[in-house]
Amino acid sequence: MGLLDGKVAIVTGAGRGIGRGEALELAREGARVVVNELDPEAGETVVREIVAAGGEATLDTGDCSEEDTARHLVETALSTYGGLDALVNNAGILRDRTVAKMTPQEWDAVIKVHLRGHFLPTHFACAHWKESGTGGRIVCTASSSGLLGNFGQANYGAAKAGIAAFSTIVAMEMARYGVRCNAIAPAARTRMTEGAYGSISDMSPDGDESFDFWHPDNVAPLVAYLCSDAAGSISGKVFGIQGDAVELYQPYTSVAVIQNHDTRWTPAGIAARAHELFDASGIDPEAENMMAKLRFSITDRSAV
Ligand SMILES: NC(=O)c1ccc[n+]([C@@H]2O[C@H](COP(=O)([O-])OP(=O)(O)OC[C@H]3O[C@@H](n4cnc5c(N)ncnc54)[C@H](O)[C@@H]3O)[C@@H](O)[C@H]2O)c1
Repeated sequence: MGLLDGKVAIVTGAGRGIGRGEALELAREGARVVVNELDPEAGETVVREIVAAGGEATLDTGDCSEEDTARHLVETALSTYGGLDALVNNAGILRDRTVAKMTPQEWDAVIKVHLRGHFLPTHFACAHWKESGTGGRIVCTASSSGLLGNFGQANYGAAKAGIAAFSTIVAMEMARYGVRCNAIAPAARTRMTEGAYGSISDMSPDGDESFDFWHPDNVAPLVAYLCSDAAGSISGKVFGIQGDAVELYQPYTSVAVIQNHDTRWTPAGIAARAHELFDASGIDPEAENMMAKLRFSITDRSAV
């Protein structure tokens, strides 16, 4: 008995890294999986792996940020397996550069794959669920780069923060149709992170060699859980996941307020009292490297 017996799931960008692990795990838990991947060879390999392990999967190649591909993913789930229960939006790319050097092409490419690549499959899946009334699960892929901000990733971080907001809004809008939508902020050793940060250790941060803390497959069990009925009461949340650690993020929250006695502020009036916000909250007014405060970090941005 698996947590996803009888379910049908789509995973975008499932040919490598975290998405590959997610597709394999969903299949191990009993789901039939539509494997989306830009690179047909990588996608085909994952489908073969799932089938060899006794699971069911079908390949649907293409760019998930294109309308036809996204529509086709949902159609494939319905025509091949007769339904759709879960969508895992995972596909992503990096084009790291500090903002003064970043080209419009680098900005657009990242925003498109991540934001359109989340919006379009979600749009077609939600349209189906709204009509069918069957309910569903969506897992979006944010990043600590967006939630906290990461040097050299203005495009990627903006997209990932957008994905966290997108996920929360989809959760609200689709609640009445039995759809739950959550986001994860993973961290793992993949082609993407080794390309950005260099070689990443295969032991746990405390030096334990028996557990490969940064292995990408460590992300998948949380995703399988969020796709299951067992997580039916959870929606609109953002989870951190790396190694053996599952974390819960708090959304942007106001932590201090100053008011001006029912009168519009003047700039000088704010200038005189802005320090109260920082005094009350203990927040540093200067730009901060919040990523440096992560419990677990694979990032080293010195090379950007
Ligand atoms: N690895 C990490 O530490 C980390 C951290 C935070 C967020 N993420 C996010 O996790 C997701 C997976 O990243 P990864 O590290 O496994 O990267 P990866 O490069 O190993 O795998 C991404 C896969 O997505 C595919 N892909 C890219 N664009 C696509 C598109 N438009 N349509 C379909 N497939 C496409 C790629 O071909 C590749 O196979 C991404 O959204 C990434 O931003 C990863």
